Amino acid sequence: MIAMFDSGLGGLSVWREVVNRLPQWSVTYVADQAYCPYGSRTEEEIIARSLRIGRHLEAEGARILVVACNTATSAAAGALRAALKIPVVGVEPAIKPAAAASRRGRIGVLATPATLASDRFQSLLSRFAQDVEVVARPGEGWVEQVESGDLCSTEAHARVQAAVRPIVEQGVDHIVLGCTHYPFLAPLVAATAGPNVSLHDPAAAVARQVAHLLEQAQPSLCPVRYRFLTTAEDTAPMARGLAALVGERYAVERLLL
Ligand code: DGL
Repeated sequence: MIAMFDSGLGGLSVWREVVNRLPQWSVTYVADQAYCPYGSRTEEEIIARSLRIGRHLEAEGARILVVACNTATSAAAGALRAALKIPVVGVEPAIKPAAAASRRGRIGVLATPATLASDRFQSLLSRFAQDVEVVARPGEGWVEQVESGDLCSTEAHARVQAAVRPIVEQGVDHIVLGCTHYPFLAPLVAATAGPNVSLHDPAAAVARQVAHLLEQAQPSLCPVRYRFLTTAEDTAPMARGLAALVGERYAVERLLL
């Protein structure tokens, strides 16, 4: 089984790539909605939650853990790798390809406040964005917007425009979607940014990396099963969100953790 987690439903943007690429593997997805959003939490809190979930999933028989969250990857990838025996794959803002492709030498990055404040993000900038200017900003209210499953109302448009317009006004030609929730708002981002701005979502690259790491592994002989768990008390919002984001209905279980 492939295990994945995020603070909420954003990691489904990675889930859909992983299940497309590895259709013979069962996937268990944990949404830590009782603690969502991670983006305004401290590094200690994010590490504690990530370890708790990672250890639980390893004990459940996960063969690999996908941290389908930029915020948790920035804060806790190191701690998870030290604590678990299974491989851990994280998600990072796609600064490298955006910087390499930028002709204007100016890129935008949208990510949570915790990701933007992390050492890991600074390290990405110093490794890959030395030759470009970076306009970084959080997508304010975007995580909550995606959690609600509402991807196209007037409110959703207004939230996207409020963050994207000031970036585009700085003359960027590439925008990095540095939070796994944000690709669900990509059509609105693209409409606001216009045709001369390219968007970067690392989900397909993450799925390729998972496939590579599982190349030698045998999937279970049991039928493929997709499980969805939430730490929230009420499972109904996740069930509704799932239907809105991936277009299919799945049962949602409660995970007490
Ligand atoms: N989806 C997450 C990320 O990629 C976290 C969003 C949040 O909980 O703030 O950063």
